[in-house]
This record gives sequence, C-alpha cells and structure tokens, in this order.
Amino acid sequence: MSFALALHLLSATAWVGGMFFAYQILRPVASEMFEPAVRLTLWKNVFWRFFPWVKASIVLLFVSGFWMIRGLGGMANVGWHVHLMLLLAVVMTVVFFMIRGKYFRGLRAAVEAEDWKEGADRLSDIRKAVGLNLILGLLVIAVAGLGRYLG
Ligand code: HEM
Repeated sequence: MSFALALHLLSATAWVGGMFFAYQILRPVASEMFEPAVRLTLWKNVFWRFFPWVKASIVLLFVSGFWMIRGLGGMANVGWHVHLMLLLAVVMTVVFFMIRGKYFRGLRAAVEAEDWKEGADRLSDIRKAVGLNLILGLLVIAVAGLGRYLG
C-alpha cells in the first residue's frame, strides 16, 4: 500500500508539475524571447521529451490507484474523493490523448513543413488543452489530499 502510494505521488508530481512548469514558466519566456520558427520547434521538441513521461505517469497512476482501491476494500468502501479523483483522471487522460494524437501531430507536421501560421494555431490548441488539464490536475491533488478531512 505505501509503495503504491509512493508511485502514485511521484507520477502525479511528474505529470502535474511538468504541466505547471511548461504553462506558467516556459511559455511566457519562450513567447517573449523567440520568433515563431525557433519557438514552435522548441515546443515540438519539449513535448516530444515530456510525453513519454506523461504516458508512464498515466499507467502508474491507474495501476497504483486501483491497487490502493483494492487494499482499501474496493470502490464501495473508498471516500467520495477517490471517485472524483478517478473521474477527473479519466477526463485528463482523454484530453492528454487528444493533445498527443491530434494537436501534437499537427504541430509536428507544421514545423516540418515550416508552416508557422498552422503551427501557431496547433500550439494554441495545445496551450488551451494543457491549461485545462493543469487546472484539473491541481484540483485532483487538492481533492485527493483534503478528501479524508472533508469527510
Ligand atoms: C491525475 C491523476 C491523479 C492525481 C494527480 C492523483 C493524486 C493523488 C494524491 C496527491 C493522493 C494522496 C492523497 C493523500 O494520501 O493524502 C492520491 C491518493 C489516492 N489516489 Fe490518486 N491521483 C490521480 C489519479 C488516480 C486514479 C486514476 C485512481 C484510481 C484508479 C486514484 C486512486 C487513489 C487512491 C485510492 C488514493 C488513496 C486515497 C486515500 O488513502 O484516501 N488516483 N491521489
């Protein structure tokens, strides 16, 4: 149980912390410093390195999450915070695969074709979707941590 919780917390930190850094720190600096060709190529390469970590985090979150649920006596025995965590994690996972499968492919194709207008549009889609997932991720962490005190 404690090993599963440790894996769970490390995965949540990698995914949500990575989004926080990309959205709040790297995004404003990159748009201030670089013109579109460099900025869009930077983002393509940043996402290419970040996404395998997100995929690994998703697998570990679900495996460790269900492992803990089993240890706590099944879904019927866990608090409402776990139900909400699972629901929001499913939404976040769908949003992630939309980013990875659709918008990121578009960004990569646009960068390869040096079509900076199209690339900027796809990056804007990614920014909105990551913004949504970041809010959901922070909410999940707050709900997960406070759940046991809220009853
Ligand atoms: C983005 C996805 C997720 C994040 C950020 C997240 C975050 C967290 C955090 C921070 C805790 C620690 C709470 C504490 O001990 O104070 C936790 C616990 C837990 N999580 Fe998640 N989680 C996510 C997804 C999931 C999923 C998919 C499941 C189920 C399959 C799940 C099941 C659990 C369970 C059972 C606990 C232990 C709850 C307890 O002891 O009261 N989580 N989670």
